[in-house]
Amino acid sequence: MTVPMVDLRPMLAATEPAWRANLERLFERMQFILGEQVDAFERELAAALGARFAVTAGSGTAAIELGIRAAGLAESGAEVVAPALTSPYTAQAILAAGCKPRFADIDPETLLLNAEDAEARVRKRTGALLPVHLYGQPCDLPRLAGIARRRGLVLLQDACQAHGAQEAGRPFTSFSPAVAYSFYPTKNLPCLGDGGAVLTDSRAVAEKVRRLRDGGRRNDQVARTRAINSRLDEMQACYLRAFLPKLPEWNQRRARLAALYDQALAGCDGVRPVVRRTGSVCHLYVVRATQRARLRKFLAERGVITAVHYPVPLHLQPAFRDCGLKRGALPLAEQACREVLSLPLWPYMPETAVEEVAARVRQFYSAA
Ligand SMILES: Cc1ncc(COP(=O)(O)O)c(C=O)c1O
Repeated sequence: MTVPMVDLRPMLAATEPAWRANLERLFERMQFILGEQVDAFERELAAALGARFAVTAGSGTAAIELGIRAAGLAESGAEVVAPALTSPYTAQAILAAGCKPRFADIDPETLLLNAEDAEARVRKRTGALLPVHLYGQPCDLPRLAGIARRRGLVLLQDACQAHGAQEAGRPFTSFSPAVAYSFYPTKNLPCLGDGGAVLTDSRAVAEKVRRLRDGGRRNDQVARTRAINSRLDEMQACYLRAFLPKLPEWNQRRARLAALYDQALAGCDGVRPVVRRTGSVCHLYVVRATQRARLRKFLAERGVITAVHYPVPLHLQPAFRDCGLKRGALPLAEQACREVLSLPLWPYMPETAVEEVAARVRQFYSAA
């Protein structure tokens, strides 16, 4: 049996009448940028995620950048505290906004931003905290919001891997002025290309992001501020509108499969699932594995495709060398990067495939 990391085909099949109808309507109207599909999707997305406003963008990276810009930190050179274990795009967005990433270590169990270490790294030039809801699990937002309040910082959120997740039964936007999402094709709410959105409960932030994503204009040809061009395509909105009603069901399916992995791998020496906080939407199923490289090769030879999120902590990546942190500075993130392995997971993954992957993992360790 070959098992890919992700398979979008069954998601497309399950929603085909809806996206076909949206596309048909789009081709009748022929307005391909900022038309009625994006408009409708923004309203539907805000309602689905419990926010007052959603403003779409060309990618998750742009959504993070727009959030930072809308918070008034653009080109300020202010430091933004972010975890060292995340996608490099988190930090690229900070740089793109004219700020500087300041990396903090992670919690050893959940692998999320370590609130204590994040606070310890706050100094005079720090402007914001940017926790990442990694692997689909919500960060401890009440605690992070408390730190932000106490230290006079803006709390922003990278929710690019956590569509539909909440914290303590509250929508993410109730904790901070801007929450960024990505619709990259592997995400819980995907599109068929690049896409992203900023969610917010603040009308002022929504209006700023609207202007900042569209050249600083207000439906005219007058640029009122320095801005970027980063808009979601109408065509992507056609798919996103079809997928969105399925998000709760797809998240439930992911959770069920993750629980099945937990069971099937229980007691297997060599792998340890990353602890999932309540409310996780199981974007990825991640284990910490000994002999990771050999395990990956063994699985690949048997048709099981895996991935590593992420192999190098951000403070050791060449693009972020300026942060001044050397090897050993963030030991928990460094250790996690050596061990984490993402096993295949998508909403319509057959349970037999989960069992097959787990059996292969067990086979590797019993032979090793
Ligand atoms: C945690 C995180 N932040 C940011 C991004 C960037 O999103 P995008 O690829 O849509 O720009 C991603 C996805 O790749 C991500 O997983």
